[in-house]
Amino acid sequence: MTLDSDLKASAPKRVMSGMRPTGRLHLGHYWGVLKNWESLQAQYDCFFMVADWHALTTRYDQTADLRAHTRDMLADWLAAGVDPARATVYVQSSVPEIAELSLILGMLTPLPWVQGDPTLKDMVKMLHEELNYGLLGYPVLQTADILAMRGDLVPVGKDQLAHLEISRDIARRFNHVYQRDYFPEPRPLLTQQPLMMGLDGAKMGKSAGNAILLSDDADETCRKIRTAITDPARQRRQDPGDPEQCQVVFKYYPLFAPPDAVEQTAAECRSAARGCVDCKKLLAEYLNETLRPIRERRRTLADDPGELDRLLRAGGEKARAVASDTLRGVREAVQLPTF
Ligand code: TRP
Ligand code: SF4
Repeated sequence: MTLDSDLKASAPKRVMSGMRPTGRLHLGHYWGVLKNWESLQAQYDCFFMVADWHALTTRYDQTADLRAHTRDMLADWLAAGVDPARATVYVQSSVPEIAELSLILGMLTPLPWVQGDPTLKDMVKMLHEELNYGLLGYPVLQTADILAMRGDLVPVGKDQLAHLEISRDIARRFNHVYQRDYFPEPRPLLTQQPLMMGLDGAKMGKSAGNAILLSDDADETCRKIRTAITDPARQRRQDPGDPEQCQVVFKYYPLFAPPDAVEQTAAECRSAARGCVDCKKLLAEYLNETLRPIRERRRTLADDPGELDRLLRAGGEKARAVASDTLRGVREAVQLPTF
């Protein structure tokens, strides 16, 4: 084996993922996404992107809060353990090469591929207006995000698998049409965590009003936990409960409390030694204990928006250097003449 191929074989794989800047993140993001991103940094070369162009696909007329949303989201990422010294964090629109790549990839993407994308169909169903050209291009733009950084692995939730399948198809098609092994076919890294439910038992979502935010303080968290649903059959304090039927409170326990505390909770629920009010108070304490360091970090970060901006600029430069390099090869492969 030559030194070169040896180096190539041992270079860490690249991870690329992104989130639209929708503002402050909640515990569902923390458990489902951020903890995973945090642990991937140890093993891979990670690129985490704020997908502001993707936000425009449905909110092109609501751009006034993009800056605040971007800073809020970055503060949440970093507070949860994303480390800008190990991972590259950047904003999509600060890397114009992604747009150029998206345009070129669009040329070789058959319309039925995007029209058949079930994730996109779901987004279109929720629209109050006609489907825009830009939204139709959502999976192509996402492919450009990944391929511009030559990402090998893409940590995503199940809802993104359909997009990623298109990304793989486009990468393969590019390599085939231009007769070179240029893009790696990006593979999904599915998060093992099941979706975290909201306080009402439905999927946690900020707009659903059932979420605990990473930026909520301890009192706000206690107040929200008081609204969480329990075993609906347990009407009075002296009734024994069934933790298996306790739809939210007991389900949260193992996420924040040690195993013996979970067992004790189950036992005291069954014997009615513990009431739901106390059970929620205790849960809120565990939760606040777990989140305290994250919240402290977050407060420090949010107090210094200049530093957040600097981190995004530095990340943007790194991402741009990678993307420029990728695009040089793309133009060459496509044989766009330079003059
Ligand atoms: N579509 C993703 C979401 O809504 C966000 C995203 C944009 C993304 N570009 C990406 C995810 C690239 C992974 C890779 O969650
Ligand atoms: Fe749920 Fe706790 Fe009430 Fe039992 S005591 S029903 S586990 S909230």
